[in-house]
Amino acid sequence: MVIAIDGPAASGKSSVARALARRIGWLYVNSGAMYRAVTWLAVSHGVPCDDAGKVLGLLDTTDFSCGMRDGESTILLDGADPDLHLTEPAVNANVSAIASIPEVRRILVEKQRTFAEANDIVMEGRDIGSVVFPETPYKFYIDASPEVRARRRASQGLADTIAARDKIDTTRRTSPLVIAEDAHVVDSSNLTIDGVVGEIVGRLKMKGLALSPNV
Ligand code: CDP
Repeated sequence: MVIAIDGPAASGKSSVARALARRIGWLYVNSGAMYRAVTWLAVSHGVPCDDAGKVLGLLDTTDFSCGMRDGESTILLDGADPDLHLTEPAVNANVSAIASIPEVRRILVEKQRTFAEANDIVMEGRDIGSVVFPETPYKFYIDASPEVRARRRASQGLADTIAARDKIDTTRRTSPLVIAEDAHVVDSSNLTIDGVVGEIVGRLKMKGLALSPNV
């Protein structure tokens, strides 16, 4: 089973998806981290992120492996964990260009689907409900006002170009960020993480998903 959580940059998806996964005991998968890892790979090798051929060539010669640890998805690039680099300004600035390359998406979507073969998962991203798992009945779209989103990212002390990323993510040709037709939209502008998770859990129960009684 898959719970899909999509939304724009800094809408709170990651915190909500992680907290929800912990609460219901499912695996948390961060698909954005995979696009960020490819971006870090390109940036650290001096490969221009808008050169699809070079990016794919680099990906082809790199062992990009996904796994799980402590209930969360993990990534290794040639055996090394890129985690510390994934929110660097150079990655923020280039990740949407990398995510616009259709072949990169094809490769990563295949890896994303593999997680659901042996696990119940909460996966967050941009196209999880619309493209990666369109058949799941459990789709959520987490939004927040641009001001709140900018404030949240700034309070994390991270330099990020969220307006620029949103523009590329919503207008790209392959799998743009959209609200899936059957997604439940939650505006998190005035809600805490627990508030959003509570709303999602309530909705899942309404849809008949059997969760353990103490959830
Ligand atoms: O910073 P935030 O949590 O909003 O972003 P993220 O989930 O880490 O995703 C970083 C970038 O990866 C996005 O701006 C998209 O360009 C791309 N992405 C995507 O295209 N599709 C996904 N399923 C997830 C991320």
